Amino acid sequence: MVRSVLMQRMPNAIQLTDLTHDDLVRLYAYPVGPQAPYVRVNFVTSIDGAVSLEGRSGGLGTPADRQVFRVLRDLADVVVVGAGTARAENYGAAHTDSHLRTRLYHHGMGGDADGAAPRIAVVTARAALDPHSRLFTDTGARPLIITTAAAPADRTRELAEAGGEIVVAGESSVSAAGLLAALETLGLRRILCEGGPALFGDLITARAVDELCLTVSPLLVAGNERRIAVSPNAMPTPMTCRQLIFAEDGTILTQWTRAHTL
Ligand SMILES: NC(=O)c1ccc[n+]([C@@H]2O[C@H](COP(=O)([O-])OP(=O)(O)OC[C@H]3O[C@@H](n4cnc5c(N)ncnc54)[C@H](OP(=O)(O)O)[C@@H]3O)[C@@H](O)[C@H]2O)c1
Repeated sequence: MVRSVLMQRMPNAIQLTDLTHDDLVRLYAYPVGPQAPYVRVNFVTSIDGAVSLEGRSGGLGTPADRQVFRVLRDLADVVVVGAGTARAENYGAAHTDSHLRTRLYHHGMGGDADGAAPRIAVVTARAALDPHSRLFTDTGARPLIITTAAAPADRTRELAEAGGEIVVAGESSVSAAGLLAALETLGLRRILCEGGPALFGDLITARAVDELCLTVSPLLVAGNERRIAVSPNAMPTPMTCRQLIFAEDGTILTQWTRAHTL
């Protein structure tokens, strides 16, 4: 009873069990034919704001979070991560639903004509990635390495030889504008950033974030884990809550878009 009253008062609140997979795809679809890069960021956090557990995000994930995580990947043109996340989480290629990707393509919702997965793009100032890591050995499209002119040439050469496509998008760091311009050149506009906190902080500071999908895991962890965004300076950015999805296990899937203030 109380729950149904709450739901009436919160028209954008939904129960995950009421949704089919296609409903989730529709709810999280990117704006139609984005004319400019659209930056969606996805994170999972504990109730007390931790971004990781023992250095990885996996311990925070729940089945509901993983379900939406996969849908968000299915919908994206490119999955962007900072090198810290790629290293900590041993990133490989994105393995998405090829039938859905083909269907999305034919509906003008992104995807790929042949069902190919979105590309993985790693942002790194130093190009300090292991050429033998999963990023380069996993089957899938060539990883994009978005780096800087200051990155040691022998490292970028090594990563290119391992199969990476090297894109220089800044002098000593990659600006948000440089990152988005590089992706736009490759026709990648439906951007899904999976963190981590340093890259997200840079994107917030540059006012480049259009949307945040934040999963709150039903867990308190304490410890000295970080928050989902860090940057040298704060940049308050008003956001509007678009959607709250409640899972039976207590996971809350939230979706926030940038508030367009006058
Ligand atoms: N809960 C979640 O959903 C979630 C999501 C993602 C990550 N995480 C966690 O976050 C932790 C990693 O944190 P982090 O802050 O190190 O992650 P990060 O932002 O992924 O990585 C920081 C590194 O990325 C590169 N980088 C970021 N912004 C850059 C820019 N503007 N220009 C050039 N390079 C840039 C730099 O790499 P180089 O040092 O190579 O130059 C920098 O050292 C891990 O524990 C991971 O599990 C959690």
